[in-house]
Amino acid sequence: MAWDELKGATATVRCEPSGREVVVAHDTSLVDAVHQACLPLGQSCNGFVLCGFCRVRVLAGAASLTPQAAEEHRLLGTLHAGPDERLACCARVAGPVTITTDYW
Ligand code: FES
Repeated sequence: MAWDELKGATATVRCEPSGREVVVAHDTSLVDAVHQACLPLGQSCNGFVLCGFCRVRVLAGAASLTPQAAEEHRLLGTLHAGPDERLACCARVAGPVTITTDYW
């Protein structure tokens, strides 16, 4: 299904290890989903893809996230991030996703 065809759909974002889940609208950023789950998430650049503090590890559902744009890919490379890591300010959801951080 094309990304635009999912407008009006919802997706579940699960945060481990707490297991806290939120149901968010299609195309919600992971950072907004985490805030809706009332969990803290580091960030200092307000989504300008400069700090990398919003980095999360995707435990399941990576295919339900928007692909990495060049700026996210570049910053994750600078941070030596693993292949399962994404910047929560960049990644937007279209299906069930499970994520974690080092400090939850
Ligand atoms: S909030 Fe700074 S890179 Fe995501």
